[in-house]
Amino acid sequence: MDSSSPAAFDLGSWSARQLARVEAALSEWVVADAPAGLGEAMRYAVLDGGKRLRPLLVLAAHEAVAGNAQAAMRAACSVELIHAYSLVHDDMPCMDNDVLRRGKPTVHVKFGEAQALLAGDALQALAFELLAPEGPGIEPRVQATLCRLLARAAGHAGMAGGQAIDLASVGRTLDEAQLREMHRRKTGSLLQGSVLMGAACGDAGAAAWTALADYGAALGLAFQVVDDILDVTADSATLGKTAGKDAAQDKPTYVSVLGLEGSRGFARDLLAQALDALARSGLADTQALHGLAMMVVNRDN
Ligand code: IPE
Ligand code: IPE
Ligand code: MG
Ligand code: MG
Ligand code: MG
Repeated sequence: MDSSSPAAFDLGSWSARQLARVEAALSEWVVADAPAGLGEAMRYAVLDGGKRLRPLLVLAAHEAVAGNAQAAMRAACSVELIHAYSLVHDDMPCMDNDVLRRGKPTVHVKFGEAQALLAGDALQALAFELLAPEGPGIEPRVQATLCRLLARAAGHAGMAGGQAIDLASVGRTLDEAQLREMHRRKTGSLLQGSVLMGAACGDAGAAAWTALADYGAALGLAFQVVDDILDVTADSATLGKTAGKDAAQDKPTYVSVLGLEGSRGFARDLLAQALDALARSGLADTQALHGLAMMVVNRDN
């Protein structure tokens, strides 16, 4: 069989190779020597857990455009730092008030609320520092693009804005368009941003860029639809976080709007949209992106 055919691609071994590099880089960059226990809280928040989907998307997109590998590893880790910070804050009593994350007590339970707040702040700052290293390895134009993409994905137009809508929506009924907008921001934007940051490490060309943006948007929304489904169907041990809390906290979700079967069907439609977008990207090596989209929709945690 031709080694470039989709059937020959093994997502498991590709992911294992990438994850080993990502773990090593995160462990090197998130140092423990920040003052007064802050470093310990930061490392606790980032290391030893998580699917690392966002770094994998960065690296897969970078592979598709044959980009700068040093930039891609920094981008991969920077997105994971923003994601980890968003989880620390999401779990705090003023937001979702969760005690379990990635199979461990949440950061505020372990280190206190003030340290959790600061760990999130410091992880966010470190994410941007990673994207702007001194030396000749990454062109300044690429550094600036990566910072801009990450800032947009994380800020008011993306994750933080979506989290604001999420909190304002407790106990309210949203229609599907409103829910989609909330999910697009709070979760979709960082996943789409991961894809685009990987693409920005090389020269994608306008048509491929648009196709990858469409792929990232569909996959990003699918991811949160599946998160909503798993909150209802999976158990806490499998998820590594408390199951059933969306209904308990009266959050509008895809399950509350479309029902379980409707949500599953919608996730499948979004997967088809993501794969269509890849097919028209014109990029030769999209096997990892293809595999990750399937994984997002078929995952059980
Ligand atoms: C959980 O994200 C939070 C959402 C955006 C729904 P993940 O399911 O990617 O969490 P980890 O990184 O694997 O812990
Ligand atoms: C969180 O969404 C999205 C973030 C930006 C962190 P959820 O609140 O549904 O995530 P989980 O279910 O706690 O992981
Ligand atoms: Mg939340
Ligand atoms: Mg939450
Ligand atoms: Mg959730």
